[in-house]
Amino acid sequence: MNYVEWDETVIVNHTSMDKEHKKMVEDTNKLYSYLTSNKTAKANKLLVKIVHDLKYHFETEDLLMQKSKIPQYISHKLEHERFYNKIRDILTKIELGKETLTIDHLKIVKLWFFNHLKFKDKPLANFLNEHNIK
Ligand SMILES: [Fe+2]
Ligand SMILES: [Fe+2]
Repeated sequence: MNYVEWDETVIVNHTSMDKEHKKMVEDTNKLYSYLTSNKTAKANKLLVKIVHDLKYHFETEDLLMQKSKIPQYISHKLEHERFYNKIRDILTKIELGKETLTIDHLKIVKLWFFNHLKFKDKPLANFLNEHNIK
Protein backbone atom coordinates (compact mmCIF):
# COMPACT_ATOMS: atom_id res chain seq x y z
CA MET A 1 0.00 0.00 0.00
CA ASN A 2 1.15 3.51 -0.83
CA TYR A 3 1.63 6.17 1.80
CA VAL A 4 -0.32 8.60 -0.39
CA GLU A 5 -2.70 7.21 -2.99
CA TRP A 6 -3.04 8.87 -6.39
CA ASP A 7 -6.83 9.14 -6.57
CA GLU A 8 -9.69 11.66 -6.78
CA THR A 9 -8.87 13.10 -3.34
CA VAL A 10 -5.51 14.24 -4.75
CA ILE A 11 -6.22 14.84 -8.46
CA VAL A 12 -7.16 18.47 -9.22
CA ASN A 13 -7.97 17.98 -12.94
CA HIS A 14 -5.46 20.47 -14.28
CA THR A 15 -2.81 18.85 -16.50
CA SER A 16 0.39 20.60 -15.43
CA MET A 17 -0.55 20.79 -11.73
CA ASP A 18 -1.50 17.11 -11.67
CA LYS A 19 1.68 16.14 -13.48
CA GLU A 20 3.86 17.78 -10.82
CA HIS A 21 1.69 16.63 -7.91
CA LYS A 22 1.88 13.05 -9.22
CA LYS A 23 5.68 13.15 -9.27
CA MET A 24 5.70 14.46 -5.70
CA VAL A 25 3.26 11.80 -4.53
CA GLU A 26 5.44 9.10 -6.14
CA ASP A 27 8.59 10.51 -4.52
CA THR A 28 6.84 10.75 -1.15
CA ASN A 29 5.83 7.09 -1.43
CA LYS A 30 9.39 6.18 -2.35
CA LEU A 31 10.65 8.17 0.64
CA TYR A 32 8.22 6.32 2.88
CA SER A 33 9.48 2.96 1.64
CA TYR A 34 13.12 4.02 2.23
CA LEU A 35 12.29 5.15 5.76
CA THR A 36 10.42 1.99 6.64
CA SER A 37 13.30 -0.16 5.38
CA ASN A 38 16.00 1.95 7.09
CA LYS A 39 17.63 3.14 3.86
CA THR A 40 18.69 6.41 5.50
CA ALA A 41 21.24 7.60 2.94
CA LYS A 42 18.82 7.04 0.08
CA ALA A 43 16.03 8.74 2.03
CA ASN A 44 18.15 11.82 2.77
CA LYS A 45 19.23 12.08 -0.86
CA LEU A 46 15.65 11.82 -2.06
CA LEU A 47 14.55 14.48 0.41
CA VAL A 48 16.97 16.95 -1.21
CA LYS A 49 15.37 16.23 -4.59
CA ILE A 50 11.85 16.59 -3.18
CA VAL A 51 12.66 19.99 -1.66
CA HIS A 52 14.14 21.09 -4.98
CA ASP A 53 11.07 19.90 -6.91
CA LEU A 54 8.79 21.56 -4.38
CA LYS A 55 10.39 24.95 -5.08
CA TYR A 56 9.94 24.36 -8.80
CA HIS A 57 6.31 23.34 -8.30
CA PHE A 58 5.50 26.43 -6.24
CA GLU A 59 7.02 28.54 -9.01
CA THR A 60 4.82 26.78 -11.57
CA GLU A 61 1.69 27.54 -9.58
CA ASP A 62 2.87 31.08 -8.95
CA LEU A 63 3.12 31.72 -12.70
CA LEU A 64 -0.31 30.17 -13.28
CA MET A 65 -1.79 32.37 -10.56
CA GLN A 66 -0.23 35.50 -12.01
CA LYS A 67 -1.42 34.60 -15.47
CA SER A 68 -4.98 33.98 -14.28
CA LYS A 69 -5.10 36.95 -11.86
CA ILE A 70 -6.81 34.74 -9.28
CA PRO A 71 -8.02 36.84 -6.30
CA GLN A 72 -6.54 34.39 -3.74
CA TYR A 73 -3.02 34.85 -5.10
CA ILE A 74 -1.40 36.34 -2.00
CA SER A 75 -2.82 33.87 0.53
CA HIS A 76 -1.93 30.92 -1.69
CA LYS A 77 1.59 32.25 -2.26
CA LEU A 78 2.02 32.80 1.49
CA GLU A 79 1.03 29.21 2.25
CA HIS A 80 3.68 28.03 -0.21
CA GLU A 81 6.33 30.28 1.32
CA ARG A 82 5.61 29.26 4.92
CA PHE A 83 5.60 25.58 4.05
CA TYR A 84 8.74 25.80 1.93
CA ASN A 85 10.59 27.57 4.76
CA LYS A 86 9.46 24.92 7.21
CA ILE A 87 10.65 22.10 4.96
CA ARG A 88 13.96 23.90 4.28
CA ASP A 89 14.47 24.24 8.05
CA ILE A 90 13.90 20.52 8.54
CA LEU A 91 16.30 19.70 5.70
CA THR A 92 18.97 22.00 7.15
CA LYS A 93 18.65 20.37 10.59
CA ILE A 94 18.96 16.92 9.01
CA GLU A 95 22.00 17.99 7.01
CA LEU A 96 23.61 19.36 10.18
CA GLY A 97 22.83 16.14 12.03
CA LYS A 98 20.57 17.96 14.51
CA GLU A 99 17.51 16.01 13.44
CA THR A 100 16.81 12.61 11.87
CA LEU A 101 14.34 12.17 9.06
CA THR A 102 11.38 10.10 10.29
CA ILE A 103 7.82 9.15 9.37
CA ASP A 104 6.69 12.02 11.61
CA HIS A 105 8.16 14.46 9.09
CA LEU A 106 6.19 12.73 6.35
CA LYS A 107 3.04 13.03 8.43
CA ILE A 108 3.54 16.81 8.57
CA VAL A 109 3.96 16.89 4.78
CA LYS A 110 0.92 14.70 4.13
CA LEU A 111 -1.32 16.73 6.42
CA TRP A 112 -0.22 20.00 4.83
CA PHE A 113 -0.57 18.60 1.32
CA PHE A 114 -4.16 17.42 1.79
CA ASN A 115 -5.21 20.63 3.48
CA HIS A 116 -3.49 22.75 0.84
CA LEU A 117 -5.02 20.73 -1.99
CA LYS A 118 -8.52 21.15 -0.63
CA PHE A 119 -8.42 24.85 0.17
CA LYS A 120 -5.93 26.22 -2.35
CA ASP A 121 -4.93 23.93 -5.24
CA LYS A 122 -8.37 22.59 -6.14
CA PRO A 123 -9.96 26.07 -6.22
CA LEU A 124 -6.96 27.25 -8.28
CA ALA A 125 -7.33 24.36 -10.75
CA ASN A 126 -11.05 25.13 -11.13
CA PHE A 127 -10.31 28.80 -11.72
CA LEU A 128 -7.65 27.97 -14.32
CA ASN A 129 -9.99 25.59 -16.12
CA GLU A 130 -12.78 28.18 -16.14
CA HIS A 131 -10.36 30.64 -17.75
CA ASN A 132 -8.84 28.04 -20.05
CA ILE A 133 -5.32 28.50 -18.68
CA LYS A 134 -3.14 25.43 -19.21
FE1 LIG B 1 0.34 22.30 -5.73
FE1 LIG C 1 -0.42 25.40 -4.16
